[in-house]
Amino acid sequence: MTTIGWDDDAIVLIDQTRLPGELVHLRITTVAELIDAIKRLAVRGAPALGVAGALGVALAARTGESIEPLAEARPTAVNLAWGVREAAMAADPLKRALEIRDDDVWACREMGERGADLLASYAATRVMTICNTGALATVERGTALGVIQTMHERGTLTEAIALETRPLLQGARLTTWELQNMGAPFRLIVDSAGPFLLARGLADAVVIGADRIAVNGDTANKIGSYMLALGAHRAGVPFIVVAPETTIDPLTPSGVEIEIEDRGSAEVTALPGIDTYNPAFDVTPAELITAIVTERRVVRPARGETLVP
Ligand code: MRU
Repeated sequence: MTTIGWDDDAIVLIDQTRLPGELVHLRITTVAELIDAIKRLAVRGAPALGVAGALGVALAARTGESIEPLAEARPTAVNLAWGVREAAMAADPLKRALEIRDDDVWACREMGERGADLLASYAATRVMTICNTGALATVERGTALGVIQTMHERGTLTEAIALETRPLLQGARLTTWELQNMGAPFRLIVDSAGPFLLARGLADAVVIGADRIAVNGDTANKIGSYMLALGAHRAGVPFIVVAPETTIDPLTPSGVEIEIEDRGSAEVTALPGIDTYNPAFDVTPAELITAIVTERRVVRPARGETLVP
């Protein structure tokens, strides 16, 4: 399965708003359509957004639209603006975008192997995860869910525990769909059960993706990640972040500088006219992160290991 690609002057991507009911592809020929797809999460997940941003520049080269609003369509995942910038700086934006796409496939495989090795070193076979960090969030394989897939392929996965991931249910709709397709053993839980099940000893590790990693290791990821990190810390369970090097933002010194997207009230209210906070992401402080796994290394910021030279 390929989440996002290029075909005859168009971006072709899986419309994730229709899953798990229907597997439908969108054909996108303008930057305006791409921005709309990004804002309504038809395409989502930091690495997939990086590829979308880069391919969007190739579209803009054909349509003459501005790329500025594309880079800003979602503010938290650094990969989007990075992908736009990389393609915009290239002599041939489409060639660069397709390179970024291919690099993602390679990087996810590397992260899968490295992450599964790390979990084996903790004798972890029951793994809790949040949101969707699988093939749908990347190009073909996934980051944190790619680690779980590698464990399943190695025969070392006893059970994946997926949080449903309110309010848009990336866990319940997308991660369970991917786990079912892999034939992996898993259970789905409501978000608020996560820390309690960690306290009861039902998971050996928590593995999550990232939308932006600050220089000091503070990590923005789907809302609910911080709660899991606190629960994992209290339960003495390793808390592992899996993300490509491109998610590390050398321009963001620490988590307080990360802009967190608030997606407004419509996603959470049952009645009109109710005020909400609806942060799509939270920030886990580096001190709660056991290790960050990238395609090149395993870094432990809490031990003083540095991410950015
Ligand atoms: O709002 P989303 O669905 O784009 O949020 C996605 C996440 O938080 C993922 O964990 C992150 O982007 C990493 S995807 C490999």
